[in-house]
Amino acid sequence: MFFGQKIHPLNFDYADTLTVAGDTVELIGRGVQLRVRCADVAEGCLRLRFENAQVDDSHQYSDAVLPEWREGRPVIARLDTETALFAAEAGRVELSTTQLRLERADFTLATVTAGIGCRSENLLLNFALSDIDGCYGFGERTKRLNKLGDSADCLTVDVVAMFRHTYSRDDYDPTYVAIPFAILKTGERFLGLFFDNPGRAILDAGKSQSGEFWYQSLGGTTDLYLVAGPSLAEVTRRYATLTGRAPLPPLWALGYHQCRWGYQYEAEFRELAAQFAAAEVPVSALWYDIDYMDGCRLFTWDRVDFPDPAALNRDLKAVGIRAVTIIDPGVKREPGYAVYDSGREQAAFCQTASGREYVGKVWPGDTVFPDFTLETTRDWWAGRLADFLRASAVDGVWLDMNDPATGYSRTEEMRFNHGAIPHDRYHNQYAHFMAMASRQACDRLDPEGRPFLLTRSACAGTQRYSAVWTGDNASNWKHLRMALPCSLNLSLSGAAFNGPDVGGFMDDTSAELLVRWHQAGCLFPFFRNHSIRHSRSQEPWQFGLEPLVAIRGAIRSRYRLLPYLYQCFFAHWRSGDPVMRPLLYHYAGPEYVNLDDQYLVGDALLVAPILHGEGQGPEIVRAGVKMQERAIRLPPGFWFDLNRGEWVEGGQLVSYAAALDELPLFVRDGAVVPYYAGPLHNSIMDLSTVELHLFCREKPARFEYVLDDQETRRYQAGAYGIAHISADSAGERLQVEIAESGAYPPDTVRFIPVVYGRPELRELEFTVNGRTVIRSLQTERREWLCRQWPVRA
Ligand code: GLC
Repeated sequence: MFFGQKIHPLNFDYADTLTVAGDTVELIGRGVQLRVRCADVAEGCLRLRFENAQVDDSHQYSDAVLPEWREGRPVIARLDTETALFAAEAGRVELSTTQLRLERADFTLATVTAGIGCRSENLLLNFALSDIDGCYGFGERTKRLNKLGDSADCLTVDVVAMFRHTYSRDDYDPTYVAIPFAILKTGERFLGLFFDNPGRAILDAGKSQSGEFWYQSLGGTTDLYLVAGPSLAEVTRRYATLTGRAPLPPLWALGYHQCRWGYQYEAEFRELAAQFAAAEVPVSALWYDIDYMDGCRLFTWDRVDFPDPAALNRDLKAVGIRAVTIIDPGVKREPGYAVYDSGREQAAFCQTASGREYVGKVWPGDTVFPDFTLETTRDWWAGRLADFLRASAVDGVWLDMNDPATGYSRTEEMRFNHGAIPHDRYHNQYAHFMAMASRQACDRLDPEGRPFLLTRSACAGTQRYSAVWTGDNASNWKHLRMALPCSLNLSLSGAAFNGPDVGGFMDDTSAELLVRWHQAGCLFPFFRNHSIRHSRSQEPWQFGLEPLVAIRGAIRSRYRLLPYLYQCFFAHWRSGDPVMRPLLYHYAGPEYVNLDDQYLVGDALLVAPILHGEGQGPEIVRAGVKMQERAIRLPPGFWFDLNRGEWVEGGQLVSYAAALDELPLFVRDGAVVPYYAGPLHNSIMDLSTVELHLFCREKPARFEYVLDDQETRRYQAGAYGIAHISADSAGERLQVEIAESGAYPPDTVRFIPVVYGRPELRELEFTVNGRTVIRSLQTERREWLCRQWPVRA
């Protein structure tokens, strides 16, 4: 595998004749025999299918798009002199022997003249980047948010195994996740291009040739979906409709997670729970890395180190701490080991071309790999995994090494469907089908509940089954900096539930880095501290009191804001809007095109963490306290600074100095932020009372608070209600109205208003489902991060 290599466009062959028959256009030339078909798919989504006759196996194996959109309505082609025309609701396509032109009312995109090429089984689509001033998406990537001038190798790999010497840099490619989705921007209009091909592909947005966007597939059939805007939000939502939205996680999964490779004994887990309690830091889950198993054998426990895992996990659960275990795909190849024997009996493992079991070398030694593409294997796996989870009282599943990592053993030999299907057809989807099978296990265990799964590797659509973490990063400032654009682009690429290893996985972290990482990460959709064995321990208390206080503040802020985060996840499920968003998602202007050192959570919270350490950037000393300084881009309007407790006027770049225990965090005027004010007791959280923090300085506030049981999947059948919240001020009075509708018993949640308004506000008129109380506003004290300051309530 030669990463970074591409095929020079001049080494492709191009067609010289074009014929049209029904919905099919055929391009023929020396070395070219390409069929192109068009279909109207979901609203605003057009599909162009490219079938290359030189591909041996032209079956489309992709599971990315939801089954209901796979068919589409064929669009009949019309020949106009030498150009074929497809005119569909979602757009218009013109195709000649060497050029493709895609047209919508709001966006036109055309290839260069020699823009459609084949080279044996490879396909080239080479678009002109004229007027394109931004490019986003690309799945999980290193480097910056804007991918113009960058390229991506869409191949899932075990990054550390592939880039052993360079992992601590911030520019490796490929990564664990392969999502060939690009969002192009021209002015304030956006268009999505989703190249649905489960094989390896390259996206190059002007890196190799400025002004040209290359898509190069290395085989298979490519379905190009044109995903309409015009806004970034519309493209993102449509892509989520096409490939599926992340289902709602259980509430506990939104809390803080503690993990480390090296936690080895039952006593350590009990001690961890006690340490969290003593440090007054809430934690929702403790994670078991590979050390819990008996010699890395799947679905076993080392019974010396963990004599009764179910009892341990039940004890943890009783204090609000859930258990998550790592589950690798590799099964130890050991006759007599029940999992291996039963898998072998079911012919559940991947095979070589000649029908032998494919063997790799991973943690357990010689390892075989379930062929998750087979329904029978998924069924076998789901049964085994469900039994294990049940017997061990485990609540969550951590899917790792599913890129798949096969050690020194060449992955190319690993074939699917009893050796019949070549490796590359499913390589990028290996984790996807593993996640599908694992979710099936959770469904068996609890058909009504909400499972929690986390996967390292993923492709387009995996968000339907699992959350994603961004793999083995390193404890350095570059990786902290990179975590923001990486998670933002993943979020725009459908994987709404994602986050990095907080603190950094490899190498030793430092007190300052650990604090800043917790602050930066405390509002990411997924929030887990994880580190490699033998590295410096990095639990919140490991560096003494001052860092602990700062980390505790960040973690507690997450728990306080958990009802808001939960609403963001619900909003994602309803509309496809990501939880974590670049500012570009809501604000227009050139200042947002490359902005990736701050992010939004939902549309109300703006997080601008400190991303450099002492001596690495601007710093000041104020009243004897050292502070790191950074610039923060505040969009127009007023913003409430939650760190300092004051309104700040936006529409400017502000310079902000933050002490070690400060995270610059802002709420926009006109927002409602649901807030948990009850006792902090790990994942135990009673949301039957919720504070509504109303930010109404100049603007009225509106919010749809979704009411549901927060536990089951009944929401999927419509069992939820909506509290329509509005807050409008007139003179000295603020009028807040809450009207509940939908399929949830009214008045189940008690809302308490907390007002952040203009100083002249004196009175609150508060109406819930038609009942009104009027009272005067008073001053209160409230905790944000680790600080206290007055607000009016
Ligand atoms: C992989 C995972 C990492 C885990 C380790 C041991 O490197 O990415 O998170 O700790 O394997 O299981």
